[in-house]
Amino acid sequence: MTGTKVTADTLRAMKARGEKIAALTAYDFPMTRLLDEAGIPLILVGDSLGMVVLGYPDTTHVTMAEMEHHVRAAARGKPRALLAADLPYHSYESIEDAVANAKRLAAAGAEAVKAEGGREILQQVRAIIASGIPFLGHLGMLPQRVIEEGGYHVKGKSGPEQQALLADAHALAAAGAFAVVLELVTPRVAKELTQQVPIPTIGIGAGPDCDGQILVSPDLLGMLPWFSLKHVKPKLNAAEQMRAVVKEWKQGVERLKGLSG
Ligand code: KIV
Repeated sequence: MTGTKVTADTLRAMKARGEKIAALTAYDFPMTRLLDEAGIPLILVGDSLGMVVLGYPDTTHVTMAEMEHHVRAAARGKPRALLAADLPYHSYESIEDAVANAKRLAAAGAEAVKAEGGREILQQVRAIIASGIPFLGHLGMLPQRVIEEGGYHVKGKSGPEQQALLADAHALAAAGAFAVVLELVTPRVAKELTQQVPIPTIGIGAGPDCDGQILVSPDLLGMLPWFSLKHVKPKLNAAEQMRAVVKEWKQGVERLKGLSG
């Protein structure tokens, strides 16, 4: 994609100008190229990789080696977009691990990293940023905690949850995060956070009032007919179209006359 390279500053400036940020996930070269050619400014190699590409039941199974492999593939698309990547489960427990693993993702081609959590990972966030790697926060429902929390629950419904989200978002912004993903946060709280914090909020299932929206691309494109999500209405039925094309091609092959026939 031609044009000026998108950086963390570009995204911050978009919030300042009131321009909405449309972000999507990619896990390989073609998807990165296609999203980039469509002008998406922020592409995330999410650890949703585990569920939508690798067939794991949740994101807690994703390893650093798997993330590096897919970040390398996505980075070969050389996007104009900012290419961010998730630090997987248990890869940022200590400050040392957080920095070492963020550097591994950067060496694979990530231009920013994301990790889940707020004040409890602030030292890791500061150290990652001090090492020169831009940091994207992730608050609200944290998929890497699905086992501890017994499912995927909307956050911000109670007063204490709302206060915690506000404190976490302010702490991440003060630590130098360039933006924060808000996943399954009540729309009212997501709106309040968006008004209060100086960095862009990128919502997923968090209502329309965030500074941007992010989706898992295969969900948007209808590639996963086996699962349905409340917050995504697929804009394409890629699964059905693929099945139909494959069936038609198969029938064409089967109609070919053999040399002996
Ligand atoms: O892993 C992922 O794809 C994500 C997005 C849902 C924000 O974290």
